Amino acid sequence: MTRRPRGGGAAVLIGFMGAGKSSVGRVVARRLGAEFLDVDVSIETAAGRSVREIFASQGEEVFREMEKEAIRDAVSVPGRVVAAGGGAFLDPGNRALLTGYAPVVFLDASPETVIARLSRDASRPLLQGGDREARVRDLMARRRNSYAEADVTVDTDGLTVLQVAGRVIALLGTRKGRRK
Ligand code: S3P
Repeated sequence: MTRRPRGGGAAVLIGFMGAGKSSVGRVVARRLGAEFLDVDVSIETAAGRSVREIFASQGEEVFREMEKEAIRDAVSVPGRVVAAGGGAFLDPGNRALLTGYAPVVFLDASPETVIARLSRDASRPLLQGGDREARVRDLMARRRNSYAEADVTVDTDGLTVLQVAGRVIALLGTRKGRRK
């Protein structure tokens, strides 16, 4: 294992849309007595509009710039559990900041699980229109290598939010005091 400085964060959650990063992150933070920060929510607060609206009116490129800034802010305060949007970890700069901040947990989910969890959700601009299943499979395949750079993976298929949160906390516990 290579050594990497840790920036004093409690945990970073990454993974595809619908993997449960926000719901699980909230529970993990509560159990650890840590502050929870959802990068998408920070972006929406700063922009005064929803992610969907940002994509529609300003485009993905502008959103990705906002995301970089929100991540810089997120990791500037120690102790947090940070949930990053599904595309955030693809950017090398974001990846460096997040891995330098805290153990990165990849919440994995199969395409079937993601499709089922987001079946009535219209808030994800990247999944709107066309063949949603093909889009999920394609995006997931293209992102797998980046997600694989997480420190640990938790398979969320068939698990409840509380079960996933329990596994995340157990994994964080076993990593305590260790550096990658
Ligand atoms: C995105 C995921 C979304 C949000 C935006 C783009 C992505 O966050 O950041 O719609 O590229 O996968 P969630 O993963 O929380 O849905």
